[in-house]
Amino acid sequence: MQLTSAQREAYARDGFLIFPGLVSPAEVAVLRGEVERLWDVEHEGTVREGSKRAPKSMFRLHEADGATASAPFRALSRSPRVLGVAQQLMGDDRLYLHHSKVNVKAAIEGSIWPWHQDFGAWRLDGIERPDMSTFMVMLDDATEISGCLYLLPGSHRWGRTDAYLDTSTAYRLWSVTPEDMKRRMADSPAPVPVAGRAGTCAIFHCNLMHASGHNLSHRDRWQAYFCFNTCANRPHDVPNPRPDHVRSRNWAPMEMMPDAVPPAAREPALAGAVPG
Ligand code: SIN
Ligand code: MN
Repeated sequence: MQLTSAQREAYARDGFLIFPGLVSPAEVAVLRGEVERLWDVEHEGTVREGSKRAPKSMFRLHEADGATASAPFRALSRSPRVLGVAQQLMGDDRLYLHHSKVNVKAAIEGSIWPWHQDFGAWRLDGIERPDMSTFMVMLDDATEISGCLYLLPGSHRWGRTDAYLDTSTAYRLWSVTPEDMKRRMADSPAPVPVAGRAGTCAIFHCNLMHASGHNLSHRDRWQAYFCFNTCANRPHDVPNPRPDHVRSRNWAPMEMMPDAVPPAAREPALAGAVPG
């Protein structure tokens, strides 16, 4: 899947691209089946919350080994639609995943993600340069009431903002202070909601400000994330490094797989589409 020069320019300007319908309904069904299969697996990379102890996040779906390994998620992460797009926008063919995860955000009880830059945390993992991008795949129809992701256009060009550790949710997150965000957003274009049908995807720069609110709907909001780094930018040693499921030690360049998810579930019409 070849990006157009308009798409590359939009990514450089806005810090993100959105691709409606990039993953087919049949593929979404396969991926959702994987989330259900892994739901009750006890793993240090699964963070739970709410009265039903639903996963807030389940990590490390893309590797070939481990309790949360998933062949469909692994295949998707290495597909031309995901790895190929990341390679083009990051200008490097040698990429690996710093981590992968599914964020469930359970109906009503799932907690928010405060405004943050992903590089706020990843810098502390020992990564030197903000040469990273996150690829997101919607596994549900996401709406504003179900707590869709919001992206702040152009905010990646502000550079890095000092982060503080927000401990108010089940997953403690290096976030941007409310005061900082209020000041910066006063002069910024409005946040863009990434809403739409399951199968919609987005890729965003690691310094892009993003957040999501409560899921006030009666349905969960499942989304998968693949966080890419260049092999050349792999982390330096740091004292007390975070575990492998968030700070991967597998720095081998990822090899492209022919296309995502089991072939039986693929719809050829979408394989080469370049929407949005
Ligand atoms: C994230 O920023 O890592 C996740 C946000 C979300 O799932 O809403
Ligand atoms: Mn994030």
